[in-house]
Formats: sequence, structure tokens, C-alpha cells
Amino acid sequence: MNVTVSKAPAPAFRRPPNKLPRPGDPCWCSSGEKYKRCHKDQDHAFLKEERQRLEANRVVPAPVSPRRDVPITIRRPEYADGGPSSRGNGRHVRTPDELLRMRRACRAAAQVLRRTGERVKPGVTTDELDAFAHELTVQLGGYPSPLNYPNAPGRPRFPKSICTSVNEVICHGVPDARPLRDGDIVNLDITVYLDGMHGDTNATFFVGEVDAESAQLVEVTRECLVRGIEAVKPGRPISDIGRAIELHADRHGYGVVRSYCGHGIGDAFHTNLQIPHYFDASARTRMEPGMTFTIEPMITLGAWEELHWEDGWTVVTRDLRRSAQFEHTLLVTETGAEILTRE
Ligand code: MF3
Ligand code: CO
Ligand code: CO
Repeated sequence: MNVTVSKAPAPAFRRPPNKLPRPGDPCWCSSGEKYKRCHKDQDHAFLKEERQRLEANRVVPAPVSPRRDVPITIRRPEYADGGPSSRGNGRHVRTPDELLRMRRACRAAAQVLRRTGERVKPGVTTDELDAFAHELTVQLGGYPSPLNYPNAPGRPRFPKSICTSVNEVICHGVPDARPLRDGDIVNLDITVYLDGMHGDTNATFFVGEVDAESAQLVEVTRECLVRGIEAVKPGRPISDIGRAIELHADRHGYGVVRSYCGHGIGDAFHTNLQIPHYFDASARTRMEPGMTFTIEPMITLGAWEELHWEDGWTVVTRDLRRSAQFEHTLLVTETGAEILTRE
């Protein structure tokens, strides 16, 4: 009998790995050939073409509307009228009364996030989303925490009521006149100050139909937040959280943004407790029942390195590939974590 052992068909085109081999090293495709004799030219052509496409489609700044007012009847955080922001009193554990008030702030933030997210669709501007979230926050008796939040010294305060981060924007995007386009992804980050406490939550939404690669990024980022929350255990170090997140991101070849972390939260928006989303052995603080902090991983399709826009706020990936994020405010319980930013 005549048996032909046919070679496996040449794989359909696959994007090059994030870390390319050196020219003399074996090709990533496991052909056994040197990289320079195999995929090198094709990879470089692909990456050049991709860079051009990403540059042509990059998010660009658009006009920012005037600052919105908050009625004087609404309690304002310490920084709202030009003062510095507080990092809290150094205590990470909340009193029962603080917790009661935090639950209200967090529930309000969750509601604003859900209802603003329902308005995401092609053609809507991020400024319109900001206006809606601002009105709703005020209606619920809250102050939109980002409004007038101070930046590093010498940089402008945050001019809007929510953060809207589109595509390659990692975080802190400023709502503006750019209409959302079919295929975009947009993160809405909502923080509400109510009853003297902050509640902070965010999610990434699809604008119309999104390509499979972006949809996968968004789903895995949601899973990264879940993994982080599952790692919350009293008695364990904070570093467990980032370890769990990084492990899951790595499995998909994604990047974990390092410069922005989760944070303690309470009567201060950001306390000095930091929650890295990658493994950081120096995050030795142990979790204790009654602590409140956020977990808010920013996960990138490509490299995690960032750049800053001139506006002093908008953070984008250097490689212009997309980034997604999800955030909850959590309470450490006797057995694990309770998600406070739920309705
Ligand atoms: N909500 C963001 C966070 O998750 C912080 C936004 S700071 C602002 O920590 F000034 F941009 F609002
Ligand atoms: Co936060
Ligand atoms: Co937030």
C-alpha cells in the first residue's frame, strides 16, 4: 500500500509573538529554521503595516466642554474647591459607621456605571456620557469624585466627572467631543462621593460590533479582576492579588500595567495603601477584615508600557495596541472579599 505522510499544512498567518527571536535564533514557528530565514521579513512587514494602521486610527484629543457644576446642597470632598486631596488617616480598617456609608457610596457608583454603560453606542460622545453620569450622580445625592481631583503638583485638576478611556487609552481619559465609533472599546470609570465616603468602580464596554481580538482582551480582563478578588483572604499579603492577576494575563500573553495600582479607599479617594496588579514581593501588608480597597487591573494586548498625553491625564499604551480594565471596591471579610460596588 502506498502511504503518503503529508506535512502539516502551512499555518494560516499568525501574528508574531510579542517578543521576537534574534535573527540567528530558531524561528518562533518551530520550523527549526533560523528566524532570519523563516518569518523575520514577514513579521517586520506585518508589524510595520500594523503600526501604520494603529497610528492612523489612534484616539486623538477633541474639545473638552466647560466644567459642570454640582449644587451647593451636595457634600463635597476636601479637594473639590482647590485644596489638596487627603490620603486618609493611615487606618486601612473601616469602622461600622464608615462601612455603612461606604456601602451607600459604592451602591450609587455601581448604579451610575450600569446606567451610563447602557448609553454606550456608536455616535455618542464621551462628553455626553459624562453629562449623563454627572446628572445621575447629583440626583442620587452624590459628588462625582473625579471632578477637580488634583494631579501631581503643577498639573491640571481633573476637569470632568468620570474617566472615559477608549481603545489604546489605558486610564484617566478625559471625556470630550469625540463620538464613539463602531468597533471601539470604552472604559467608564465612575467614582461617587456620598455620605462622606468614596465608591469606585469601572468596566469596559463594546461600542457596536467589536473584533474578536478585542472581545477576548475584554473578557480576560474581567476574569483577571475575578481572579484578583478570589485571592483576597484575611491574613494573606496584598501581593497575592497581583500574583493571581499576572498569572492569568500571562497565560494569554497579555501585559499588566505597572504604573497604576488598586488603592485603599474610604473617606479618602486614594489612601496610601497600594494594590499592585502584578506580583510585587514588597506588597507585604496583610489583609485584615474591615479593610476596603479597589482592585482594577489594566490589561494590554501588547506591551504594558505607557505614554502620557499633553493634557496631563490621558494614559495610552506606547505601542497603541488596546487596553481594557475592570474595577470593584472591596471589603475584606472574615473569609474573603465582599464586592461593595454592586447594586
Ligand atoms: N477612578 C480612578 C481610579 O480607579 C481614579 C481617577 S482619578 C481622576 O482610581 F482624577 F481621574 F478622576
Ligand atoms: Co480606583
Ligand atoms: Co476608578
